[in-house]
Amino acid sequence: MALPVTNDDERTTAAELENLEIELLLEGIYRRYGFDFREYAPASLRRRLWRRIHAEGLGSVSGLQERVLHNANSMESLLLDLSVNVTAMFRDPSFYREFRERVVPLLRTYPFFRIWHAGCSTGEEVYSMAILLEEEGLYERARIYATDINEVVVHRARAGIFPLERMQEYTENYIRAGGTRSFSEYYLAKYEGALFDRKLTENVVWAPHNLVQDRSFNTFNVILCRNVMIYFDRALQTRVHQLFHDSLERFGILALGHKESIRFTGIENAYEELDALERIYRKVR
Ligand SMILES: C[S@@+](CC[C@H](N)C(=O)[O-])C[C@H]1O[C@@H](n2cnc3c(N)ncnc32)[C@H](O)[C@@H]1O
Repeated sequence: MALPVTNDDERTTAAELENLEIELLLEGIYRRYGFDFREYAPASLRRRLWRRIHAEGLGSVSGLQERVLHNANSMESLLLDLSVNVTAMFRDPSFYREFRERVVPLLRTYPFFRIWHAGCSTGEEVYSMAILLEEEGLYERARIYATDINEVVVHRARAGIFPLERMQEYTENYIRAGGTRSFSEYYLAKYEGALFDRKLTENVVWAPHNLVQDRSFNTFNVILCRNVMIYFDRALQTRVHQLFHDSLERFGILALGHKESIRFTGIENAYEELDALERIYRKVR
């Protein structure tokens, strides 16, 4: 005999079905293309999948699965949606101000140091760091590794051309971040955008790197991973924190985004807080 179906049951079943479809889609993407989104935070993942489903004119997660498995261009668009590339120069100016005050004096004690921007998106934070180090007379001693899962954004980052209409916002950020020159010295209005000084990238190595699947490729004195792990579930965050801990030199610096923390990662005792508000930590063991 069939069981009576209530509205609540129908809602649960629809949600469970959608979860199953999402699991199958993510498994399919992983097996077909090698991108592993299976441990990304579910709520934001779901929102972004639906954005792509609508953009493709489809009606279900399964429809999207069929589309991306057969069409690499759709997969590329989905990758752009899932990787959330929002960024800005001197984003959170107070972070850069504190970095100047707390971290720069430590960097001065090294003849040479390595910085890793993990999840650098289109590179705005890398150019910001290069400008800061240049103004502190430290750029020559730095080797900066800038990586992201998404090759398209790494390519854009390398080109160093940013929208002219954002220059006013960036100039304000730069001043609030403690910039000491005129921000316009660093770019030329060209190619319908602001082309940043090529000197700022002389010591930068750009490369694709996937924090979920790839290993570390060096040891670093500073790792910045800002506004990236917010999209990961807790188990994945813990694994990536382990990767950063293994990749940091003793007394190396870890910098996270304002909404991120090392609390509850199981590794918090390995760090001391240099600035709790700005999420700047130092590895002590
Ligand atoms: C919101 S942006 C943050 C950019 C910059 N760090 C900032 O704070 O402005 C997040 C970046 O993380 C990257 N990302 C997401 N998953 C990643 C992964 N598994 N490995 C490496 N980068 C990843 C995305 O492609 C995106 O460019």
